[in-house]
Amino acid sequence: MTDPTGFFEKLHREYGDIAAYEVPGTRYCAIFSSELLGELMEKDSAFPPSYPRSRYDVVKSPGLARMRGDDHHRLGEIIASAFAPDRMRVHADILAEQVEEHCGRLQAEEGVDIRYFSECLAWEATFGAVFGRDMRAAPEVARTLASAVKLGYLLSALPGGARLARLPLPYMLRALRASKELDELAYRAIERARDPEHPGHDVVSHLVRAAASGRFNWRFENDTRVRDEGFSLVFISYETQIIPLVYSAYYLTRNPAVRERLEREADEVLGDRPLEGADFPKLRYAQAVFNELIRVQSPAQTLVPRPAVEDSVLGGYFIPRGTVIQTPLPVLHLRADYWERAGEFLPERWLRDSPEGASGCPVHAFAPFSRAPRACLGAPFATALVVFTLAALARRFRIEPVAQEIPRRMSADVAFFDGPIRVTVRERATTPA
Ligand code: HEM
Repeated sequence: MTDPTGFFEKLHREYGDIAAYEVPGTRYCAIFSSELLGELMEKDSAFPPSYPRSRYDVVKSPGLARMRGDDHHRLGEIIASAFAPDRMRVHADILAEQVEEHCGRLQAEEGVDIRYFSECLAWEATFGAVFGRDMRAAPEVARTLASAVKLGYLLSALPGGARLARLPLPYMLRALRASKELDELAYRAIERARDPEHPGHDVVSHLVRAAASGRFNWRFENDTRVRDEGFSLVFISYETQIIPLVYSAYYLTRNPAVRERLEREADEVLGDRPLEGADFPKLRYAQAVFNELIRVQSPAQTLVPRPAVEDSVLGGYFIPRGTVIQTPLPVLHLRADYWERAGEFLPERWLRDSPEGASGCPVHAFAPFSRAPRACLGAPFATALVVFTLAALARRFRIEPVAQEIPRRMSADVAFFDGPIRVTVRERATTPA
C-alpha cells in the first residue's frame, strides 16, 4: 500500500512476466509484459475492467467504461467521434485560448502551487469541453466531489466501513451540495443541445445530436444518462492531465538540453503571437516531451483492475474465476529490455527523424492511455491540452521546483498528489541561457 510501484518492481524482478499474490480475501495476478497486456486486451470479455462503486458516486448509470460487448462498442463509437479530427480542430482552438488565458495570469514569483495551476486549467478545459465553455464551476467543487468518491471507496473497504459510509458525514454533505451545483449546469447544457441555434461545440451537444441522428444505433433513455456520461468523462480524466503538467517542472529542470530545445520550438512556432489551435502539428518536440513525461510518470499507475469473470488462461497459465488482473504501467514503461536508455528522460526517442528513432518499443509496452478495445477516447484532447501548455509556458517562463525530490503520488491506481507542489516561476528574459 505504501509503495505499490516498488512492490510490483520486486515481483517482476523475482518472478518474471506474470506473478500471483494474495491479500486476505482476494487473489491477484500482476502482468508485466507487452505480450500479456496484448492478450489481456484481446480477452476483454473474460477480463472486463472493474471500476469501484461507492454510495456517493455522482454517476449512477453504468457509463462507457463500465460497459461490455456491443453496448460498449456502440456508445464508444459516439464518444470517440466527439474527439475525431474534425471536432478536435474546434476543441484545439478553444484549448489554445484557455491555455493562453491561464498562462497569461501566471506571474514570475516564488512558491507558486503548480498543482493548483494545473488543476484549475485542466478542470476548466475539461468541464468546458464536455458541457460548454460558458458552463463554469470552481475547481474546488470538482475536488470536493473527487475526494468524496475516493473517501467513499476507502470507507467501504474498511471493516464495518459500509455502515459508516451510510452516515451523513460532513464530506458527504459537501459532496451532495457540489453535485447539485454541477447538475444545474449539466442539465442546462443538455437542454440547449437541442436548440438548433446553439453551435454545439461541446461534447454533450454532440452526444445528444449524434444519438438523435440515428447514425450510431444508440439512444440515451433520458437526460440523466447523458448527464452521467458527461460527468464520467470529466471525472475519469481531469486529474490525469494534471500529472504531466506537474512533473514537467521537475524533468525540464533536470534536463536543461530538453528545456532549451522546447523553448526554441516554442519561440519558432509561436513568436510573439497568441497560441492557436492550428499550432498543434507544428509543436512536434512538445509532443515528444509529453510522450516521454507520460512514459516515465504514467498518470495511471495501473490499468483498472480486471477480475476474471470465468476460469480463463493468460500467458499459458490457468487463472481461476475471480482472480483480479493488475497491470502496473511503470514497470512496462521502464523495462530496460523494451526501451533504450530506459531510465533517461529522452523525448528524442519519439521523433522519427532523430538518431534515436521513434521509440522502437514492443507494441503494447507503452500504454499510458491503455490499448484497444479500452483505449482512452480523450487522448487527443489531453495531448493537445498538455502540449499547448508546455509550449505556452516554455515561451515565457522557466519553472523550477522548490524541493528537488520528485513528488510521489498517493495511491496505486488514482493519480493524485497530496498537498500543494511549490515551484519558482521566472521570466525567461531574466534567465541566463
Ligand atoms: C493524460 C490524460 C489521460 C490519461 C493518461 C488517460 C488514461 C486512460 C486510461 C489508462 C484509460 C483506460 C483504463 C483501463 O482500461 O484500465 C482511459 C479510459 C478512458 N478515458 Fe482517458 N486518460 C486521459 C484523459 C482523458 C480525457 C481528457 C478524456 C475525455 C475528456 C478521457 C476519456 C476516457 C474514456 C471515455 C475512457 C474509457 C474508454 C473505454 O472504456 O472504452 N481520458 N483513460
